[in-house]
Amino acid sequence: MQETRHRILDTIAAGPVSGPALADRLDVSRSAVWKHVEALREAGFDIESGDAGYELTGVPEFGGAAVEYGLDAPFEVEYHESIGSTNARARELAGNGAADVVVLADEQTGGKGRLDRAWAAPSGGIWLSVVFRPDVPPAQAPIFTLAAAVAVTRAAREAGVDARIKWPNDVLVPGEDGDRKLVGILTEMEGEADRVSWVVVGIGINANVDVADLVEGATSLREECGNVDRRPFTQRVLEEFDALRTDRDAVLPAWREHAATLGQRVRVETPGGEVVGEAVDVEFPGTLVVETDDGERRRVSAGDCEHLRPA
Ligand code: BTN
Repeated sequence: MQETRHRILDTIAAGPVSGPALADRLDVSRSAVWKHVEALREAGFDIESGDAGYELTGVPEFGGAAVEYGLDAPFEVEYHESIGSTNARARELAGNGAADVVVLADEQTGGKGRLDRAWAAPSGGIWLSVVFRPDVPPAQAPIFTLAAAVAVTRAAREAGVDARIKWPNDVLVPGEDGDRKLVGILTEMEGEADRVSWVVVGIGINANVDVADLVEGATSLREECGNVDRRPFTQRVLEEFDALRTDRDAVLPAWREHAATLGQRVRVETPGGEVVGEAVDVEFPGTLVVETDDGERRRVSAGDCEHLRPA
C-alpha cells in the first residue's frame, strides 16, 4: 500500500483527526488527503468524517489493501476476485522484475497443481503466490516449499485445526477415513547455475469453501473449524513465511515438529524408481531420508510420497 495511505490509516485508527491536521502531520496538501481518503474508501475501508475529522471505523474483510494493512512483512499484495492462476500471474510479474509481491485471489479458474494437475480453487479460498528473489543457488529452492508448509501449518493450528505436513509440500488433516488435504504448494523458479533469479511459491488454502466443490480426499478450514477470517489468516501465513525465508536454519526443526511423514512407512515414486521404507528424517534443503528394509538410508529429493500402513 502506498506509504501516505498507510500513514493516514494508522493515524485515524486511533481516533478522529481533522483534514488540515492530517495534511500537516503527513506534510501533504489538504486536497491530497481528501484524494487518499476517497481511494481508501473505494478500497473498502470505512472512514467516517464528522465534526472532529476523519476516523477509521472498519477494515475490508479481504483484498489487497486489507491484507497489506497491518501486515508485518514487506509484501505488496495484488488482489484479484477471479484469475486464471495466481502462479501464472506471479511468473509474469517475476519476468518483469517484480520482487516481494503477493498475488492473491478469491477464486482461480485455472489453478495449477504439481505434475501439471488441475487445482480446484472456488470462491472463498486463499489462493496466493509469493514472488521473491533470494540470493541462493537453485538447488536450495526446496527449502522455501518447506517454509511455506510450516507457515500455513502454524496458521491452521492456531485456528484450531490439527494440521500436519506430508513430505514434501502437502498440509493434511488426519481423519477416521484417512488424511485429507487442506493445502497444496507449488514452487516454480528460474535461475542460472549458481543463483536463482526468482522464486514463486504458490500456496492454495482450502479456506471458506465446501468440500463438495473440491476434489475427493480434500478438506477445508470451513469443514474442520468453521469459516475463518481470511485477512488475519493470510497475514499470519505471509508473516511466518517471511520470517522463515530469511531464517532458513529455523525451517527444518519447525517442519519436523509438524511432520506427518516422519516415523511413517512410505513409498516414494522418484524419477529414479520407487523407494519404500521408514521415513526417518528430513535434511537441508528438503531431502527425505528413508531407511529401507535392508537397513540402507536412501535420500530422496523429489517425488510423490504415499504413507503406507506399517509392514
Ligand atoms: C499441489 O498439487 O498440491 C499444489 C497445488 C498448488 C495450488 C496453488 S493455489 C495458488 C497457486 N496458484 C496456482 O495456480 N497454484 C498454486
